[in-house]
Amino acid sequence: MRVLGVETSCDETAAAVVAEDGAVISDVVRSQVALHAAYGGVVPEIASRDHARAIVPVVREALGRAGLTIADIDGIAVTSRPGLAGALLVGLQAAKGIAWAANKPLVGVDHLVGHLLAVFLRRPTDAALPKASYPFIGLLVSGGHTALYRVEGPALAQIRELGATRDDAAGEAFDKVARRLGLGYPGGPAVDRLAALGDAGRARGIVPAPMAHKGSLEFSFSGIKTAIARHVAGRGGAPSAEEVRDLCAAFQATVVDVLVKKTLRAAQAEGLGRVVVAGGVAANRGLRAGMGAACARRGMELLIPPFASCTDNAAMIAYAGALRLGAGERDGMDLAPATSTALLRVTRKGGGRR
Ligand code: KG4
Ligand code: ZN
Repeated sequence: MRVLGVETSCDETAAAVVAEDGAVISDVVRSQVALHAAYGGVVPEIASRDHARAIVPVVREALGRAGLTIADIDGIAVTSRPGLAGALLVGLQAAKGIAWAANKPLVGVDHLVGHLLAVFLRRPTDAALPKASYPFIGLLVSGGHTALYRVEGPALAQIRELGATRDDAAGEAFDKVARRLGLGYPGGPAVDRLAALGDAGRARGIVPAPMAHKGSLEFSFSGIKTAIARHVAGRGGAPSAEEVRDLCAAFQATVVDVLVKKTLRAAQAEGLGRVVVAGGVAANRGLRAGMGAACARRGMELLIPPFASCTDNAAMIAYAGALRLGAGERDGMDLAPATSTALLRVTRKGGGRR
């Protein structure tokens, strides 16, 4: 089975062709980052308008690179949730139009499920990577979401949230801190690079450890972000390059520490020895190193997909959709976008003690 995937939930217009075993036949991602950079974050209306311009050429390119026409495709998978409503709508309408015109089955995919299953994708360059299998603890860390899951299989009912962030996502915290430090958007990669050059110890007092809910598997990142913003605002004048490096190092070390600790706690609580890290923040070198060392110490298996599979892409949507199609599932032309995930959530958003 070959499935065309379409992804427009946020600021990437993406299309891909993937087989049901995860083999990536083509994968096209067109980023809108340059359009949003001036605003320091994604502007929903700009995002949907640009998706509308890009979607047809991006789908054409994905089919072209695969050397296929729409007639060769066995089904269409499209991100239907969660995401920006207007942005999702563009991909959904495109996917419905293609499915209707070519008389192909259509399935909607939850973007978070796509991220969690991306570890099963096989690109031509991935031949040497270890193969993933169920069950596993999935740590999803992206710009929009941060949560831990027990993943028994690809179906919604087989994925259970163990804990999520109560406020900012990890990537969002990276981006906001970067903005405060004048590092541009998106800031994650810049913070990562500078953190490697800084001394976390020198700035440790400024960055509080986000362990308020110590025993739980929930996260909170807004306190660290605010502490750094307050420090920068209160010191008068822009921080020196050295201070910026130290703040990046302390911030990253603190975030990595809590992500690693809670992932290990989840694995222990669930009695699982396999961890998968997914989402854009999985590119972070500190997180890769920290999680790698911690899992190795405990004899646990750690799988982190290559960067192209971590950040937003349509290959993960095509793969998740192929599994739904293979299970005989279909969605109709009434498939509608939703801003929230279909996965059951156990963490309530919002601050305060619980
Ligand atoms: O998964 P993704 O591409 O999009 C969402 O679904 O949100 O993740 C994007 C996020 C951004 O917040 C970006 O700053 C962050 O991933 N990111 C990183 C790194 N590379 C990307 N954060 C920390 N370190 C990195 N190296
Ligand atoms: Zn994403």
